[in-house]
Amino acid sequence: MKSVECSNANVEEWENPDFIRIYDFGDSSPPITIRQNKCEGDTFTHVWPGAVFFGHYMASKEGKALARGKTILELGAGVGLAGISCLVVGGAAKVTLSEVPSALSRGQLVPNVAIARGNRRIHDLQTMSLTMGEHDTIGHAKARDLNVDVVLCSDIFFCKFMQNITSKTLRRLISWNAESSSSQGRTVVWISHVDRYPGSVAEVDSALSSAGFSRTRKVDLSSLERCRALLTQPEYDYLLDVKIWFFEYARTGEGKAVEVSFE
Ligand SMILES: C[S@@+](CC[C@H](N)C(=O)[O-])C[C@H]1O[C@@H](n2cnc3c(N)ncnc32)[C@H](O)[C@@H]1O
Repeated sequence: MKSVECSNANVEEWENPDFIRIYDFGDSSPPITIRQNKCEGDTFTHVWPGAVFFGHYMASKEGKALARGKTILELGAGVGLAGISCLVVGGAAKVTLSEVPSALSRGQLVPNVAIARGNRRIHDLQTMSLTMGEHDTIGHAKARDLNVDVVLCSDIFFCKFMQNITSKTLRRLISWNAESSSSQGRTVVWISHVDRYPGSVAEVDSALSSAGFSRTRKVDLSSLERCRALLTQPEYDYLLDVKIWFFEYARTGEGKAVEVSFE
């Protein structure tokens, strides 16, 4: 991964990135350029590790097979790497990256989408405002109308509060989808999850189960060769003792459980 510091860095001016990083996932896909800020306090400023590991999964044969041709909505997309990798690396048909309004107005998601579209004449990549939780009825209705195959959640199940609002949003989006003719309720949830504290996987499972979902796929991303190589880099070595998971969930009663390890 190549990083470039920006000389005009200024955390007051959010339209300017503090650094730009180019993510090359090691397959034949074009690298993805992501502008980021160092500013602490908001979580939408930079790429989280779940997105990097997920991007490597998209570059694997199995990841591409899952993503190819899919219509995808990402929740809490941050600076956009996970969702953009679905399109550029995984071969998804259409991706919508959603975020809270402040991330759309002050963060780097909108510029990163413009870069991706400009570089590759991609037209099936867009952003939308969607605040998870109870109140954003308009955002939830617009998201429901996208009739997506997949709702992607990269590194957003990192605490109880986020687990709670995300699973409520998933229930609203996907139970509505069940009534639409195009998706027939087959929308699945993809979660890239870093197991940062004991019991976090059980918490994700419990939040999703309460919202009416069962796990249909569990992939140990830490065992994927490309991800093992990532863990030798100083930036990620703090994750050496934890697992990074890819989970797929479907509405309870749909799909058979699959468990994958690359060891
Ligand atoms: C840990 S970051 C992960 C960012 C990105 N998905 C990644 O993997 O790099 C969590 C993201 O959730 C977003 N978020 C927090 N609360 C939210 C809410 N109520 N609705 C939508 N997104 C939210 C934040 O703005 C932030 O971008």
